[in-house]
Amino acid sequence: MTIQIQNKEEYENIYNRSVNDPEGFWGEMADTFQWKKKWNKVCQWEFDTPDVKWFVGGELNITENCLDRHVATKGDQVALLWEPNEPDAPALSYTYKELLAEVCKCANALKEMGVGKGDRVCFYMPMVPELAIAVLACARIGAIHSVVFAGFSAQALADRIIDAQAKMVICSDFNRRGQKFIPVKQVVDDALALGVDCVEKVIVSTLDSENTTVKLTGDKEVWWHDVVNHQADTCPAETMSSEDMLFILYTSGSTGKPKGVVHTCGGYMVYTCFSFRNVFQYKDGDIYWCTADIGWITGHSYIIYGPLLAGATTMMFEGVPTYPDAGRFWEICEKHKVNQFYTAPTAIRALMAKGDHFPEQYDLSRLKVLGTVGEPINAEAWHWYNDKIGKGNAPIVDTWWQTETGGIMISNLGGITEGKPCFATYPLPGIQPCLVDKDGVEVSGNDVEGLLCIKHPWPSMIRTTYGDHNRCKQVYFSAFAGKYFTGDGARRDEHGRYRIIGRVDDVINVSGHRIGTAEVENAINEHDAIIESAVVGYPHDIKGQGIYAYVITDGSIDDEAAFHKELNKVVTQFIGPIAKPDVVQVVPGLPKTRSGKIMRRILRKIASGETSNLGDVSTLLNPEVVQAVMDGAKK
Ligand code: PRX
Repeated sequence: MTIQIQNKEEYENIYNRSVNDPEGFWGEMADTFQWKKKWNKVCQWEFDTPDVKWFVGGELNITENCLDRHVATKGDQVALLWEPNEPDAPALSYTYKELLAEVCKCANALKEMGVGKGDRVCFYMPMVPELAIAVLACARIGAIHSVVFAGFSAQALADRIIDAQAKMVICSDFNRRGQKFIPVKQVVDDALALGVDCVEKVIVSTLDSENTTVKLTGDKEVWWHDVVNHQADTCPAETMSSEDMLFILYTSGSTGKPKGVVHTCGGYMVYTCFSFRNVFQYKDGDIYWCTADIGWITGHSYIIYGPLLAGATTMMFEGVPTYPDAGRFWEICEKHKVNQFYTAPTAIRALMAKGDHFPEQYDLSRLKVLGTVGEPINAEAWHWYNDKIGKGNAPIVDTWWQTETGGIMISNLGGITEGKPCFATYPLPGIQPCLVDKDGVEVSGNDVEGLLCIKHPWPSMIRTTYGDHNRCKQVYFSAFAGKYFTGDGARRDEHGRYRIIGRVDDVINVSGHRIGTAEVENAINEHDAIIESAVVGYPHDIKGQGIYAYVITDGSIDDEAAFHKELNKVVTQFIGPIAKPDVVQVVPGLPKTRSGKIMRRILRKIASGETSNLGDVSTLLNPEVVQAVMDGAKK
């Protein structure tokens, strides 16, 4: 098994070794996995192109490492624990032996339906065990999974299916979230009607095959239970090259079109397992729970792959933190005796606002490590998490990373290296962060701020953006020569600990979800009355950032509240409810430079309620609109 660092001194030694001899270090880590053929070169790289390869020439199947190799030693240990939306419904569990059998059955069904190595399979599913099973089934046969968060709209789903040219969609009939009953299959139907012609088959799973109201039509659509249940429970694991694609995951950037971030088999396997074991300090017999959705990278790396590679018991939860009440997370922690708990600041803030009496009702004494991810955590939320949930006994790991990094990059290691409120602190072994100024000059020393870059490749880094390698180069590797640019600003304190300040590009982080301002603008612009729009983020007490839309209309709007609802509808139609603007302000004009570029800096300040220090506006093409925008600003 991959090493687990035991104390600060060991962290320092291993970190130094990983930087001085990356190949030696990662070669040793990779040696702890099951390979079908050993690699002949640990790392081969060039950032300019970019062309990054890890464990070159190696062959493996990640599911043999997630499942088969554990069956021999811990086949009867629970691998996957599932807590349903309804608190009274029974939880489900799958031992390593059972999970392997289910994955093989699903893999056989996929093969029977014509899915093979290299084919793309798109997922649009709630948090049910079938999602984890089918994702692993794809990996088993070498198909590339592309999981789309089930809150995205039909249009957003169609765009992602088409971009990946997916041959199959796997979905469910409904999604049960709290008291909501969301018609998932209907969204898939709507998506496929939007000019999608690559999909040959749709597999639909249901939690209630007797009573489901969904009716399948034609040969294209099949029920999961009809095609999977009767299959043999063994399936050979396809031989994959280390650099074969494992999955695509779409994420937002500065442009209107989401990018398909590509991760490959070998490096992703080594790094997610290594980071999981070290950050969460998982010990045999522990119960680990990450509350993320598998539709995001956190769910991929730290619900499915990292924990299973490490032979852990990983839990997934179908519901929401506030159903039936705001004590649900803590009730589940008590019920399943959770030892490591990993969630997002937005959830912590939302639950904090509901009052201390919720966590106080439950026994949280088994919690050993608490994690946070997705956005900067504010001091108040950090202290509440530490005091009310961890009772001062469970270190908080503030884990900074990205869809593109595949795994946790900067974080304290639970109980091993010290945490600091609001600081992700130190890089993991093998990770070489640096700060640069806007000209790309490295900012040296401590107690400094800059743009966060990474200097040396790490095994789970992005390899390409699907179907558009040049975009990958432009977005991540062209800003600063020889470095991966994260898009985040950061501060390094006097001890070299990193604090992530937030995005420096046109990406907003709403409740830990990345949303491109251009995507929201494109959606808003679909409304007939819109002439032009500009979307920025502003500080929001619960969500971290809210979405503020400035819009120029054709003058036909009388009722602004009704208009806001209409805009919500178009945004929901084109992206999904997560991108609905919190504030809409009708403006007479947008501040622009002489070259016609919208001055977002000014709009961001006004949206944040900062009106005294707008900087120099004299170079604007239309300085007079600034006052008008300020006068109409909404709190
Ligand atoms: O701005 C950073 C923020 O989330 C961005 C990455 O978003 P995404 O690819 O959706 O992945 C989220 C889950 C890994 C980063 O560029 N972010 C992530 N973790 C933190 C964070 N900001 C501050 N502190 C963190 N711990």
